Amino acid sequence: MSVRYNAGRRVQVAAGAAPATPGSSRREFLAYALAGSAALFTAGGIVTLTSPDPTSDLLVGKLLPATLNAATGAKSYPISGGFAYPRIPAGTFGGAFTLTQPASSFKIDDAPVLIADGKFYVVKVAPDASVQPAPNADGLVNTANLIAIYQVCTHLGCLVPYIVSEKRFICPCHGSTFERNSQYVRGPAPRNLDQFPVTVVNDLVIVNTGQRVVGYEHA
Ligand code: FES
Repeated sequence: MSVRYNAGRRVQVAAGAAPATPGSSRREFLAYALAGSAALFTAGGIVTLTSPDPTSDLLVGKLLPATLNAATGAKSYPISGGFAYPRIPAGTFGGAFTLTQPASSFKIDDAPVLIADGKFYVVKVAPDASVQPAPNADGLVNTANLIAIYQVCTHLGCLVPYIVSEKRFICPCHGSTFERNSQYVRGPAPRNLDQFPVTVVNDLVIVNTGQRVVGYEHA
């Protein structure tokens, strides 16, 4: 048994024991902890990159072969790399919404239909309207000319009601005003209201709230 000093502290070392390497076990622990954190962070990053909905992620859409449900237009994705894809259930914000109202029943002069759970309105616009529907994840624009308008104000995020008497969206917080088709009119909002892509399959209207399309900024 011999006596050594480590960082000013007196320690006993058994005869024949390997020379102590001060702090080595702590360094090893930190190294392992760092490596473990990095691995977890990487795995988390993959999930984050691909969430919330693969139908909204063009990269994942290319990497993972999807199975298309011909009746609803919904896509299913397989388990990949040992991880189950984090799916957001249909009818939940961030996922797909299938409306009960058929596409053919929307009229150009109707007030927007609010789908509160999805935080969006659906309106039919004329083919020459100043704002047109955004393409869906497959690059297709619905021929029913339906726009799903995100209900959240592009200024500071208040929920914007549609004022029927004004035939416009008017934000109650700071007065930003938008046309029925989502186009900015006045107020502090920097751009049009945002959209979600609409897909129409067999007269069913499907809105993907996992893929927000940012509205045009005004000058
Ligand atoms: S949050 Fe809508 S105008 Fe400010």
